[in-house]
Amino acid sequence: MPDSDGGARSRAFFGDPGLPGFQHRAFTKAMGFDEESLRKPVIGICNTWSELNNCHAHFKDIAESVKRGVWQAGGMPMEFPTISLGEIFLSPTSMLLRNLAAMDTEEMIRGQPLDGVVLLAACDKTTPAALMGAISADIPSIMVSGGPMLDGWFRGETLGACTDCRRLTQEYRAGEMDEETYKALEDGIVRSPGHCMVMGTASTMNAMTEVLGMALPGNAAIPAMDARRRRLAERSGRRIVEMVAEGLRPSRILTRRSFENAVTLFSAIAGSTNAVVHLPAIAGRAGIDLPLELWDEISHRTPVIANLRPAGKYQMEALFNAGGIPGVLRELLPLLHGDELTVTGRTLAENVTDARIEDADVIRPLSDPVLPHGGTAVLRGNLAPGGAVIKQAAAGEDLMTHTGRALVFRDVADLSARIDDPDLDVDASSVLVLQNVGPVGGPGMPEVGNLPIPKKLLKQGVRDMVRISDGRMSGTAFGTVVLHVTPESAVGGPLALVRDGDLIELDVPERRLELKVSDDELARRRAEWTPPERHYTRGYGRLFLDHVEQADRGADFDFLRGRDPVEAYEQPKF
Ligand code: FES
Repeated sequence: MPDSDGGARSRAFFGDPGLPGFQHRAFTKAMGFDEESLRKPVIGICNTWSELNNCHAHFKDIAESVKRGVWQAGGMPMEFPTISLGEIFLSPTSMLLRNLAAMDTEEMIRGQPLDGVVLLAACDKTTPAALMGAISADIPSIMVSGGPMLDGWFRGETLGACTDCRRLTQEYRAGEMDEETYKALEDGIVRSPGHCMVMGTASTMNAMTEVLGMALPGNAAIPAMDARRRRLAERSGRRIVEMVAEGLRPSRILTRRSFENAVTLFSAIAGSTNAVVHLPAIAGRAGIDLPLELWDEISHRTPVIANLRPAGKYQMEALFNAGGIPGVLRELLPLLHGDELTVTGRTLAENVTDARIEDADVIRPLSDPVLPHGGTAVLRGNLAPGGAVIKQAAAGEDLMTHTGRALVFRDVADLSARIDDPDLDVDASSVLVLQNVGPVGGPGMPEVGNLPIPKKLLKQGVRDMVRISDGRMSGTAFGTVVLHVTPESAVGGPLALVRDGDLIELDVPERRLELKVSDDELARRRAEWTPPERHYTRGYGRLFLDHVEQADRGADFDFLRGRDPVEAYEQPKF
């Protein structure tokens, strides 16, 4: 597509000799740009700043750093907003809007006279959404993420958002923490802008961006408030101008092998299970299938070497000081396709050759890993014929093989109403099942898969149980939690047929998830089953329900897979 390389789109926009070009120049000059600016390639800065997204509160500053770099390299930066998905603020779940944000990014790139784009993202869904949109539009693109927030700190203890929100809330619910202490925690756990600072979904997706070659080396782990993040933003601004001149588009960078590298890094950092949904969606935009089996296969041969919470001990600032993702990648090189191209114009291996590992307990050598195998396992069986996942690195070892009686909640409302009922028929061996929280049923796969432990069991000292659902779990969460059961219950998957008292067998070493009910009985239940009422009859929600794919395909819309590269800027000639 040479017509959008080297600034061709903006030249067509500003250089047209007729009325369209006259209008484009006149209206742009109204913002104070002069002729000299209009001759430069236009670099869009796709900014997801919002006061309803605490993780992105510093993005105006980061955009200014990018702009400096763009001007330095001879480009013309133009910042524009796209939808911002604040994980904490959005209801019913930010995941419902990931595909909308991806469409917004793609269409804003497509519709405006941009030659290249810098994507600013950080909070969980913003990173995959920005990548999905940019890959489908396929103009030169580079990601600058917001970086992890400062470590939480309370009474001498380093805290992680929101791994410790969950752990300490369990203590509070169990009556082991008083109201005043719980309240005081609020002031110390989230101390700055930036994304959650454990290896949750945001950290994982920004690590994925780096290994895919879509950001400069080091982008994922530099803390949000560290001046080095602004300096990286400035360098990224310079680099995107060069990428435009080189015609270095996502389609030249992203290959099946670069996605295999991403799954390898995912395994080595014990990344968030949400990546098992987001990465297939991102790959799908590049026309690449990432079957669940690949995750299991790579996980088997990849040790966990990043010692990071919630599976390990440290947080993102420690990872940064220990060498960041470049340090992890250098150690992992024997397991990677090092010859994959990146936004630097160099290969992945060339990018990390000089990376240093400053702390061998944070980034462990391959010979002395945190865990011998990757953090996530893919399960199959009559309860999940299309697959399910479990983050074994953050699960209870004693529950890795377990058979127990199902206690079924038909949706989130049912769960909320009954989970703390003192008369609930439950014990520590029960298997908690939550239905109707998948892509269609949730809707949007809310992060409710780590069902709370019933209060009466918390008081008995129970802190983990087997939990199964078709929903997701926050990357900062932990426990023996089976997620993304496919096909989901709302479209008639076997999860919909589970009843109280059924025996369920979980066998993680054998990768099995079985409902111990006869085929005849399941057929009888299926004949009686009726789908739940649809959540939406109009608007974006209806579009979502009509077109969302199942979790194993990334929960993208069926009509959004693939790319439709941006051509020259089109305009009427009169
Ligand atoms: Fe934004 Fe956790 S709330 S990454």
